[in-house]
Amino acid sequence: MGEQDAKLKLQPLIPALSKDLIMAAPSTSFVPYDDRDGWIWLDGKMVPWRDAKIHVLTHSLHYGSCVFEGERAYEGKVFRSNDHSKRLHKSAELVGYKCPVPVDELDRIKLEVMNKNGLEDCYIRAFSWRGSEMMGVSAQQASIRTCVAVWFWGNYFADKTKGIRVTMSDWRRPAPDTIPSAAKAAGLYMICTMSKHKAEAEGFSDALMLDYRGFVAELTGANVFLIRDGAIHTPTPDCFLNGLTRQTVIELARARGFEVIERHITPDELSTFSECFITGSAAEVTPVAEMAGHHYKPGNITGTLADDYSLLVRNKITLEQVRAGSKVA
Ligand SMILES: Cc1ncc(COP(=O)(O)O)c(C=O)c1O
Repeated sequence: MGEQDAKLKLQPLIPALSKDLIMAAPSTSFVPYDDRDGWIWLDGKMVPWRDAKIHVLTHSLHYGSCVFEGERAYEGKVFRSNDHSKRLHKSAELVGYKCPVPVDELDRIKLEVMNKNGLEDCYIRAFSWRGSEMMGVSAQQASIRTCVAVWFWGNYFADKTKGIRVTMSDWRRPAPDTIPSAAKAAGLYMICTMSKHKAEAEGFSDALMLDYRGFVAELTGANVFLIRDGAIHTPTPDCFLNGLTRQTVIELARARGFEVIERHITPDELSTFSECFITGSAAEVTPVAEMAGHHYKPGNITGTLADDYSLLVRNKITLEQVRAGSKVA
């Protein structure tokens, strides 16, 4: 849940929830996601928010094969919508099924749902999953369902501007021959939630995950960049998501003339960097103040790329203009 959501407090916390169950919520009150006003697109129909339901015996709920996208729209335009829709299709293929809604149709539906909900600046969750026709590991005859929901989501991290504090996760990103690690699939997030919960319980905002070899990989929902002597270093995405924000920020950095080095980074090196930031559709460009016990000062490079990203997603600059050294559209 985004911290901004907590501010949208419309009703008291459900009294029946035990303290343990709500422990991970960043606030003592929140608006449950199944009890809001609005419209959700589900399997071809726009349905009232509270009616967008699935059965408890849904295959993907039990076996983790839901694939999803997290996107943001700025001033009515979905940033890299087509790339997100293509990645949803790719993720479905990687876990063994076909998303039944064509890529261009997904792009159109996102705008339709935003329009129906009266939102221009929002978060978008498009997802596909195996339905409830079959139970057991096999799901050959299960239907493939698709949904698009949108809601207002402010900063992913409350302490975004001053820099987040990140601890080290106990869990590692798995080898690509043990799970399709390029897929944005629910099953891959189980250890992310475990890592994030432990981090939050210890007072951190997030956790850094190493990969199966012990190299620096990513955070639980974002890619990581480290800066030293004016050069930007980022792990090679060979066993975790090559985020679309990551790719955009690399393009922006190169357009600005910064050196970007994609390579394997060891945890021993973390003490040698001066700046650190993370990227993701939800996190955007977020500076890191502390990671795995090392302290960083959000500096010029982080600030420049955060500003450039913010202007780019709002169509206020183009890559060509950044390359040409101009900032105004
Ligand atoms: C585990 C993980 N890594 C990286 C990212 C960044 O991906 P993107 O920039 O495409 O949102 C995300 C966000 O979706 C994520 O969940």
